[in-house]
Amino acid sequence: MNFEFTEEQKMIQQAAKDFAERELLPGVIERDAKSEFPKEQMKKLAELGFLGMMTDPKYGGGGMDTISYVLAMEEISKHDSAAAVVMSVCNSLVNWGLETFGTEEQKQKYLVPLAKGEKIGAFLLSEPEAGSDATSQRTTAEDKGDYYLINGTKNWITNANSASTYIVIAQTHPEKKHKGINAIIVDKNTPGITLGPHEDKMGMRSSDTHSVMFNDVKVPKANRIGEDGFGFSFAMKTLDGGRIGIASQAMGIASGALERAIKYSKERKAFGTEICNHQAVAFKLADMAVKVENARNLCLKSAWMKDKHLNYGIASAYAKQYAADIAMEVTTEAVQIHGGYGYVKEYHVERLMREAKLTQIYEGTSEVQKIVISRSLLKD
Ligand code: CAA
Repeated sequence: MNFEFTEEQKMIQQAAKDFAERELLPGVIERDAKSEFPKEQMKKLAELGFLGMMTDPKYGGGGMDTISYVLAMEEISKHDSAAAVVMSVCNSLVNWGLETFGTEEQKQKYLVPLAKGEKIGAFLLSEPEAGSDATSQRTTAEDKGDYYLINGTKNWITNANSASTYIVIAQTHPEKKHKGINAIIVDKNTPGITLGPHEDKMGMRSSDTHSVMFNDVKVPKANRIGEDGFGFSFAMKTLDGGRIGIASQAMGIASGALERAIKYSKERKAFGTEICNHQAVAFKLADMAVKVENARNLCLKSAWMKDKHLNYGIASAYAKQYAADIAMEVTTEAVQIHGGYGYVKEYHVERLMREAKLTQIYEGTSEVQKIVISRSLLKD
């Protein structure tokens, strides 16, 4: 097994690191406080090709592999998780889903501007009563012959306001349960779509999260992705890859907290020496480092499996569950090492701790990942 990165992978990692330190880190505290979307920063990130980094160049993307994506997600997430989640949703959920299952016409019309970063996408699955229990979709896409009529409400939608292209999961044949669900591409400016207020979140405050209401929204049949009833399977397959993105985000948050804790522990003195010289701190750092390294390896393994076209759904659930859970632990310890300074904004670790919490909740809670993993262990 080769654990060495290629020159190209190292270059992408370095480019993401430079960008995050130069463009995202300055101002991240203020944007977080004001819940302000990093609009200018996302424009620049898009110009560098990071919003469509894995899409085939023939559709305007960067044609990079999933390993490079994990490395880039880590670097961006160390400094600004709100920017990282835009990158994850665009690459993993919207672009990948369109590229893998869309028609050539859908790809030309929707994927190309998304992969070039000219537009942003959003993935609309969660509902007020269908978060983890994703088969219980209440949003309907009524078949009206040559168009669908969409009605319902989607909740917690990342990029809801900044996106131009939505992929909406909705029920067409309720009697068929999850086999009656469709995935439909919807232009955000279609009449009948309204947004709820920006969610005032605990963390990742500057990512753009709203509920989205559909009231008799007419969408051409040609916008359905795949066969009639393919929508739930589409969502599950897409989320398998999405979990690599969010696992890498969680790992990057933890990695950023570890780096800050190491730096602080070498500067801060107590009881006559730098605090890193106290085993109470040094051992914490060692435990944090092992967790980050394990999470990184799980992310890279699932990415490698995806690049090799192996079945990576369970591996990505391992990565997502572990990385999110250790992100919470590692950021909490980073705050502890910083003491009182960790509890104020200037040192970033309190923000990372708030951000880590969301990675245990969205794109499948830690409990959902455990359902996926335990079922795979217990199946005959
Ligand atoms: N790939 C393909 N098909 C799959 C699949 C997968 N990974 N997982 C399940 N399926 C199929 C099953 O084979 C089954 O098909 P058949 O009936 O034909 O056999 C069907 O889907 C139903 O599967 P289950 O019986 O396993 O379904 P379930 O109701 O028990 O739920 C679940 C399984 C794993 C809990 C699923 O509902 C799930 O993943 N929920 C979480 C949803 C989620 O991640 N939401 C986050 C929203 S997106 C987001 O957060 C983005 C963002 O903004 C950052």
